[in-house]
Amino acid sequence: MSSWTERAKAVLPGGGFGNFDASLVIERGQGSRVWDADGNEYIDYLIGSGPMLLGHSHPEVVEAVAEQLSEGFSFFASNPKGIELAEVICEAVPCAEQLRYVSTGGEADMFAIRLARAFTDRSLIVKFEGAYHGMSDEGQMSLSPSKLIDFPQPEPDSAGILQAVQDQTLVIPWNSPEHLKAVFDQHGSDIAAIIAEPLQRIIPAQAGFLQSLRDVCDQHGSLLIFDEVVTGFRFAWGGAQSLYGVIPDLCTLGKTIGGGMPLAAVAGRKDVMSLFDKSVAGDQWLMQVGTLSGNPIAAVAGLKTLEILKRPGHFERLRELGDRIQEMLVNALNKRGVAHQIVGNSVLFDVIFREELITDYRDLGQADKAKQAAFNKSLRASGILKSPAKIYPHLALTEADLSVTHEAIEMAADSLI
Ligand SMILES: Cc1ncc(COP(=O)(O)O)c(C=O)c1O
Repeated sequence: MSSWTERAKAVLPGGGFGNFDASLVIERGQGSRVWDADGNEYIDYLIGSGPMLLGHSHPEVVEAVAEQLSEGFSFFASNPKGIELAEVICEAVPCAEQLRYVSTGGEADMFAIRLARAFTDRSLIVKFEGAYHGMSDEGQMSLSPSKLIDFPQPEPDSAGILQAVQDQTLVIPWNSPEHLKAVFDQHGSDIAAIIAEPLQRIIPAQAGFLQSLRDVCDQHGSLLIFDEVVTGFRFAWGGAQSLYGVIPDLCTLGKTIGGGMPLAAVAGRKDVMSLFDKSVAGDQWLMQVGTLSGNPIAAVAGLKTLEILKRPGHFERLRELGDRIQEMLVNALNKRGVAHQIVGNSVLFDVIFREELITDYRDLGQADKAKQAAFNKSLRASGILKSPAKIYPHLALTEADLSVTHEAIEMAADSLI
């Protein structure tokens, strides 16, 4: 282990930033690869937890950012690059008539929830067990609960959260029309919004489920919020909402739209978004400011990233890469008779060691976690870096990367038998 990990232990709780295995200190990234402080090289399927869809330090993005660097880092005032990026996002994302910038995806989710409460003058939020919506009090409701308590009661994942937040959150299982109906039958007129990831971590919505969220919100005057922090500009140019054809009232975006820099947004219907405008919102005004909101350097990185992504063939290529990696996993594990399934979409998925269909958080909890950890450990030893529960295909992957990945998968499959 590098001296960095020792130094980190002295000044960082848990010896790291809290995001990932603290024993890994990454010094450098280029294209599809990252290098740690011990000099190990990895093919990167973590890609900064999603944003580096073009790979690290894409030359065109570097050039655009370098140009902006000598023009100023941060103004607090609106800036042309941020306005241009908002135009591109509003043109691409079906629900986005207007947007408001923040700095992180979690912040965007927090404001989307507050906005829905202000617009509907209601307080209850429906959230799905196991769904990730950042680190706000609401986001921490049953994100990864260890106790499986009765629905729709939430379990906070973090200490320090007020009971009042729990009282205003209804948690139900993903892909359960029965629970959805039950909470709306009982509380419909008090529900401000449903917040959902259109692909929950990696678990797809079953046929018709996303549409049923739209329908129930329409019936009860609630808002539908899609958290597209991960899926936005990854699943399609218009995000998961355009791929699946279900349009929410609001969505949140992050990761890719900042090209790896701190930039995120709440976007949606103009009448709802107008509550951010004091001159029209009156008592319903939502106060929202942030030092780094729409930061010009982040906006330039995002603009260039989106410009590149829009070029012909990129989303198709991403799907093809994901499909090829999935095929490698399935073949390697089938050959050795290891029970498993791929859960997710071509552009975001993981292999899960369980045969029965996975439709929600509790199903995922039944999978063989020890096998997954062993598989991931072997991949890491072969130079493959991934999140413990996700594989992010990306556009910097080369044929050479894919053949190293293939070999690593074969070895990891061997390690399980
Ligand atoms: C679906 C989803 N929403 C929100 C967030 C929070 O984004 P951030 O880490 O930028 O706060 C994440 C982060 O991974 C996410 O995956």
